[in-house]
Amino acid sequence: MAHNLLKGKRGIIFGALDENSIAWKTAERVYEEGGRFVLTNAPIAMRMGQINELASKTESEIIPADATSEEDLEKLVTQSMEILGGKLDFVLHSIGMSVNVRKGRHYTDEKYDFTTKGWDVSALSFHKVMQSLYKADAMNEWGSIVALTYMAAQRTFPDYNDMADNKAYLESVARSFGYFFGKEKKVRVNTVSQSPTPTTAGKGVKGFDGFIAYAELMSPLGNATAADCADYTISLFSDLTRKVTMQNLFHDGGFSNTGVSQEVIERFSE
Ligand SMILES: NC(=O)c1ccc[n+]([C@@H]2O[C@H](COP(=O)([O-])OP(=O)(O)OC[C@H]3O[C@@H](n4cnc5c(N)ncnc54)[C@H](O)[C@@H]3O)[C@@H](O)[C@H]2O)c1
Repeated sequence: MAHNLLKGKRGIIFGALDENSIAWKTAERVYEEGGRFVLTNAPIAMRMGQINELASKTESEIIPADATSEEDLEKLVTQSMEILGGKLDFVLHSIGMSVNVRKGRHYTDEKYDFTTKGWDVSALSFHKVMQSLYKADAMNEWGSIVALTYMAAQRTFPDYNDMADNKAYLESVARSFGYFFGKEKKVRVNTVSQSPTPTTAGKGVKGFDGFIAYAELMSPLGNATAADCADYTISLFSDLTRKVTMQNLFHDGGFSNTGVSQEVIERFSE
C-alpha cells in the first residue's frame, strides 16, 4: 500500500543486481511511494544483471559506476542531479562483496590483496559515496543516506569471514560522516542491520541455508525479508524520521536481542 511518503523526493540507489536484491525491492517501493531516482551498479554487474527491467518499471535512468572509483562517483552524482532536476533527498548504499569469501579463503588464511579489495568495495565505498555527495553539495537539507549492514559487526559468525570487519568499518563511517553531514548539511546517515536474506551476496556465505533457518527460529517475529527491509528504508527516507541519525538500526525480527528461543531449546531437549 502506497502513502506518497516520498513524493517529490529524488535519489540514487546502488546495488540492484536482480529481483532478489534488497536494492531492487527498495527501488520498487521508493517508486510506489512517489520517489524518483537513478539506478547504479558496477559496470560488470550491468552485464550480468537485469537492471534494465527495473529501470523501465520505475522510469529510471541507469548510470554505471564502480563504487570504489572516485571519478565514477563524481560523474554519477553530477549526472544524477542533472537527470533528476535538482539536489538529492535520499541515497541507498546496498553494496557488498568479499574476495576472500568468493575464493574460499578461511578467515585465518586471508589473502590481503583480497581483503583490501573487499574492504574497498564493501566499506570504504560508503565513505567515497558520501564524500562525493558532500563535496558536490548534492544533498538537500533533511536528506537521508542509508547503508546495509549485518550483525556480524557486533557478534562473531565464523563463516561471515572478513565481511564482519568490513561491516564494523561501514557502521563506524556512518557515525563519523553522520556527524559532519548532520552539522553542516542537516542530512542523516544510518545503517540498517538486516536479517539473513536469500540474495546473491547472502547465498555466497558458507552454510547460508542452515544459518537462515536458525535465524528464523531465533527471531520472535521471524526473519525480515528483502521486502520488509525496503519498507523500513522507506521510513528512513521519509520525513517521519528526520532526527534519526548516526544509528545502526537492527531490522531482524528481534534476533539481535534474543538469547535463545523456545524452538531452539526444543531442538536440544531429549
Ligand atoms: N543478503 C543478506 O543476508 C544480507 C544481510 C545483511 C546485510 N546485507 C547487505 O545488503 C547489501 C545488499 O546485498 P544483497 O543481499 O541485496 O545482495 P546483492 O548481491 O543483490 O547486492 C550486492 C550488490 O553489490 C554490488 N557491487 C559489488 N561490487 C560493486 C562495486 N565495485 N561497485 C558498485 N556496486 C558493487 C553488486 O553488483 C550487487 O548489486 C550488502 O551490503 C549486504 O552486505 C545482506
